Amino acid sequence: MAIPERVFSGVQPTGNLHLGNYLGAIKRFAEMQADYDCIYCVVDLHAITVWQDPAELSHNTREVTAAYIAAGIDTTKHIVFNQSQVSGHAELAWIFNCVARMGWLNRMTQFKEKAGKHKENASVGLYTYPDLMAADILVYRGTHVPVGDDQKQHLELARDIAQKFNVDFAESATNAGHPDGFFPLPEPLITGPATRVMSLRDGARKMSKSDPSDLSRINMTDDADSIAKKVRKAKTDPDGLPSEPKGLEARPEAENLVGIYAALANETVEATLSQFGGAQFSDLKGALADIMVAKVGPVGDEMRRLMDDPGEIDRILSDGAERARVLADANMNVVKEIVGFIR
Ligand code: TYM
Repeated sequence: MAIPERVFSGVQPTGNLHLGNYLGAIKRFAEMQADYDCIYCVVDLHAITVWQDPAELSHNTREVTAAYIAAGIDTTKHIVFNQSQVSGHAELAWIFNCVARMGWLNRMTQFKEKAGKHKENASVGLYTYPDLMAADILVYRGTHVPVGDDQKQHLELARDIAQKFNVDFAESATNAGHPDGFFPLPEPLITGPATRVMSLRDGARKMSKSDPSDLSRINMTDDADSIAKKVRKAKTDPDGLPSEPKGLEARPEAENLVGIYAALANETVEATLSQFGGAQFSDLKGALADIMVAKVGPVGDEMRRLMDDPGEIDRILSDGAERARVLADANMNVVKEIVGFIR
């Protein structure tokens, strides 16, 4: 029996939600609602793999939830909740810790980047992070996962884990009524012109929550003046804009600003270049600031409005968690049967 299609994705509540998170993930989450049943999670268990101040963690969890809602996610038709409220994530992650191989995790570039030179001091959770991520998706038997480009390797690992589980437990899964394997191999959806939004100060670095320079990113809660100022100060190169995507090669700053414009305008890079080809950066920057204020500004305003009523956000998370738990518990029952745990 074919596994029904289901979208799952998540965002960490680690503060400074930025334009990369919005264009690479959250905006696309909203777009997928029309075609799929979607589950969007605020992944607080992932956040604590590096130290989080408890009060800030709660605040940031509500802020990501507010961003989901402000971006247009309908919490009545789809599921929005925070990860720690559904214990199936942590339970399945443990089982996956026993399926995944050390050699697989040793290859994860994000761990190497985040742990840096002080690997011995990194939390064990940071190392096994990708197993939890696989569990997030697979505890719902998620089939489609919209993410930014930086999550590609983790998604490949999730597929490897699903595959190995299906092979290791093939006989037992058949006995439990799943002859084709219990887990789907989840498909990463990394599409559109802004799957890797770069820093506004350095086209070689990703726009990131942890960049010490606030000028490097557009925060979702920036006001119109800061947005305009940051776009004005964005790094460029001395040439004019090309008319074809090929002309953006080896010009990371130009490629980034054009990609951001295209994503905000809901058009292709080709369409943006047919408008701006031959123009100066100052023309593109003027139009970019305008469209960013018009598109991101209202999302930030709505986030601030929602954050004024934290009780309502908590109610939405608790309602989403209740619905997520029903799905996760049913799947965990089968997983436990397959693994041989007495229930
Ligand atoms: P996180 O919280 O770092 O980022 C959330 C989403 O934003 C995307 N993103 C970007 N996209 C384009 N340009 C950028 N500069 C940029 N920076 C971030 C990320 O690719 C991501 O889609 N491990 C995940 C969270 C997670 C998850 C999951 C995702 C946990 N479990 C299960 C999917 C499925 C993370 O750290 O995302």
